[in-house]
Amino acid sequence: MELQIDKTNVPNNYKILFLSGGGQGQFAAVPLNLISRTGSADYVVTGIEFDFIPDTKVVPLVADMSSNFMSKKIDVSKFGVIYGGAQKNIGTSGVALVIVREDLLNQALPICPSILDWTINAKADSIPDTPPMFVMGRLFQWIDRQDNCQERQK
Ligand SMILES: Cc1ncc(COP(=O)(O)O)c(C=O)c1O
Repeated sequence: MELQIDKTNVPNNYKILFLSGGGQGQFAAVPLNLISRTGSADYVVTGIEFDFIPDTKVVPLVADMSSNFMSKKIDVSKFGVIYGGAQKNIGTSGVALVIVREDLLNQALPICPSILDWTINAKADSIPDTPPMFVMGRLFQWIDRQDNCQERQK
């Protein structure tokens, strides 16, 4: 099944992945895919929404957008990784949508399971595993039918 996602807002140097494990899965995937860069990661506890995009200079900014995915236009180029569990805004539970900048691939820790490995999934168009994406496809079709974000912002 082909998902009709609006890619016009996602620059070409980003991969869009559909993965199993929901948002919780990505809590593990983020360090497993990125921590080999520096051996550490700073984070802000989720549950808040910034009304601006923090400038983290050369440090890749990772955002959990489970609660506001596709609710408004965002500048994807300001982020290293955007991910979210689907069930609140874009689909059914157990699925995660991940948008990752390509230069952040190819550095997963060897212990990273393949279903959480962004590089393996980017190379194979997210097919090593089969997340339940039917509802996400229907929702993207609905979003496509909207003129703009206004309906979703209500
Ligand atoms: C901000 C945020 N991140 C992650 C999750 C977990 O997502 P999932 O249930 O897909 O594992 C939730 C769940 O509601 C959430 O609100």
